[in-house]
Amino acid sequence: MTKQEKYQEIIPQLKALIEPETSLIANLANIVATLKYELHFFWVGFYIVEEKELVLGPFQGPVACTRIAFGKGVCGTAWKKQKTIIVPNVHDFEGHIACNPYSQSEIVLPILKNAKVWMVLDVDSDKLNNFDKIDVHYLNEIIKLIETKYAT
Ligand code: SME
Repeated sequence: MTKQEKYQEIIPQLKALIEPETSLIANLANIVATLKYELHFFWVGFYIVEEKELVLGPFQGPVACTRIAFGKGVCGTAWKKQKTIIVPNVHDFEGHIACNPYSQSEIVLPILKNAKVWMVLDVDSDKLNNFDKIDVHYLNEIIKLIETKYAT
């Protein structure tokens, strides 16, 4: 099965899980579990904005840094720029925060509420160059499930 087919399979499943459940934490937790165990990423998690920092939320994978300042690392940069960032090789990204030495590439997508970054979805791979526009497209669909439920 291609990555695209896998995403197409899990998105309706996530929709069905998220729709009847009101708990944000439960829904974020099921998203990261699905991405980790169906797409086999090395690390998948949410960082949630709390004042001037991002604080670790539901995740799957090895222990990670708990707090990231505004503008720091890939996550803090995605927050500052309000933009999705793909890092093909984390060693080439100045200021990358290495929570785990196995991470080789990364994608971070901001999730908005009232036009401000509310949290970010961070996905790490232990392979170089693992993320492309297919990931951007489908991870955005997943994020939209959260934005439309809680942030509109
Ligand atoms: N690499 C991220 C930090 C979070 S971990 O990858 C889980 C960054 O540079 O923001």
